[in-house]
Amino acid sequence: MNKIIAPSILSANFAKLGDEVRSVLDAGADWIHFDVMDNHYVPNLTIGPMVCKSLREFGIKDFIDVHLMVEPVDGLVKMFANAGADLISFHPNATANVSETINKIKDLGCQAGIAINPGEEVTVAEQYLEDIDLVLLMSVNPGFGGQKFIDAVLAKISYMRNLIDKIPNEVRLEVDGGINPENISVVSEAGADTFVLGSAIFNTDDYSNTISALRSNIS
Ligand code: DX5
Ligand code: ZN
Repeated sequence: MNKIIAPSILSANFAKLGDEVRSVLDAGADWIHFDVMDNHYVPNLTIGPMVCKSLREFGIKDFIDVHLMVEPVDGLVKMFANAGADLISFHPNATANVSETINKIKDLGCQAGIAINPGEEVTVAEQYLEDIDLVLLMSVNPGFGGQKFIDAVLAKISYMRNLIDKIPNEVRLEVDGGINPENISVVSEAGADTFVLGSAIFNTDDYSNTISALRSNIS
């Protein structure tokens, strides 16, 4: 499977978000990772469907990968599908019925992902593996950008890679949190194919150089 680099706009300059998104895509990013936090499921508060819709209206046509760190989930699924999301991931313990949420995402024409926190077992992702498009393994505790990668997640990445390789349907394995040009190769070798990076891209001056360096470290 091709390797996807998905900058998290959590670390972008929100005062000029449209330009930031365009720059990072022009610099070679594949997807835009859109972190939604509700000050309930996680202590931070970020952006909602209106911002996603604004990016579409601004002319962004690339893949938008929405990561919902919210509770409850279902109401926002519909709003994000209408706002132009391509994929919607959610944390299974934030919804009453996991399979209903997956079906809702798919019925609205989006791809579905299940997110697993560093301290959680992958059991739920395993259980629904044939129904989803992506497993999102968090390598920091969700809520804030710029945290340190939790090395214990590497074993979980390898474990999940093995499971995914055994099933007939295509499922992406995305890793989110604390990735940088130094550790991305280890994350890739463990089995990830989709890489979320916030601070390691947006805190640099030249997105193009940074993304080239990241890509050469995973090729
Ligand atoms: C954390 C978010 C991540 C995070 C990634 O809750 O889901 O997407 O912002 O940022 P960095 O790469 O700075 O860890
Ligand atoms: Zn995220």
